[in-house]
Amino acid sequence: MPTPVIEISGITKAYKMGEEVVGALRGVDLRIDRNEFVAVMGASGSGKSTLMNILGCLDRPTSGRYILNGQATEKLSAGALAQVRNKEIGFVFQTFELLPRSTAVVNVALPLVYSRKFWWGTARRAREALKSVGLGDRMTHRPNQLSGGQRQRVAIARALVNEPSLLLADEPTGNLDSKTSEEIIALFRDLHQRGQTIVIVTHEEDIAGHAQRIVRLRDGKVVSDFPTATDPVHRDFLDRAAQASARAAGQAAVGSESRPTHESRAAQTGGSA
Ligand SMILES: Nc1ncnc2c1ncn2[C@@H]1O[C@H](COP(=O)(O)OP(=O)(O)O)[C@@H](O)[C@H]1O
Ligand SMILES: [Mg+2]
Repeated sequence: MPTPVIEISGITKAYKMGEEVVGALRGVDLRIDRNEFVAVMGASGSGKSTLMNILGCLDRPTSGRYILNGQATEKLSAGALAQVRNKEIGFVFQTFELLPRSTAVVNVALPLVYSRKFWWGTARRAREALKSVGLGDRMTHRPNQLSGGQRQRVAIARALVNEPSLLLADEPTGNLDSKTSEEIIALFRDLHQRGQTIVIVTHEEDIAGHAQRIVRLRDGKVVSDFPTATDPVHRDFLDRAAQASARAAGQAAVGSESRPTHESRAAQTGGSA
């Protein structure tokens, strides 16, 4: 069996708020293999971001094991964990998190500055990453000269520039209109087809429908984990969407039926209207 990209078991995360302890994650087990495309769903406050931050080595669990590409992360020092993060993880945020005064190519090159791996050819790699997300013609634009969708593409290029084994995206379409969201999710699909392992958080079923597998959280626990095609909640969503469009089509058909009636009446009376 190949080494999974992610293997976590018994992950908990408790936040202390004064006297109170919030159990943001309460025992999460998850295995994600290479080239999977997983959507994490759940109500607000169910622990999605907490889980993503742990998977992205931005935060550590209170207890439990996290093995990333065969390497146990819990014993790593802060410095070693930061190195693992830089090498293995690309992270995309809802709010893009770009440097406002820097050009697209400088924003994308930033992770390379922290990794000695690509000290040579930094600008070239950043330009290649921008081309790979369809922004070859926006290299020297600054964030405020780009649309929301283009900003998110810059952020995705930045996440990919170190060729991470894992791309994580926490509500990447949360600040985008539905058309732009579709374009961004199409880009994720494309990256997945090129071999990228991807985990995205979303609370939109139609966005999650592009992933192969849906993991649902509730109150800090995984409550379901199915391939998208067999996920009961997702199937229910698709059924209802199909019914709604059938109703809409039916109404359109009723509308169009009345026209021939009108025309045939016009024909009967020999009128032209
Ligand atoms: N830094 C923090 N300090 C205290 N509580 C937090 C912190 N981050 C998250 N929480 C709490 O943990 C729970 C899960 O939060 P989060 O992972 O952000 O949920 P989601 O992303 O699913 O909306 C929530 O109850 C939230 O209030
Ligand atoms: Mg969140």
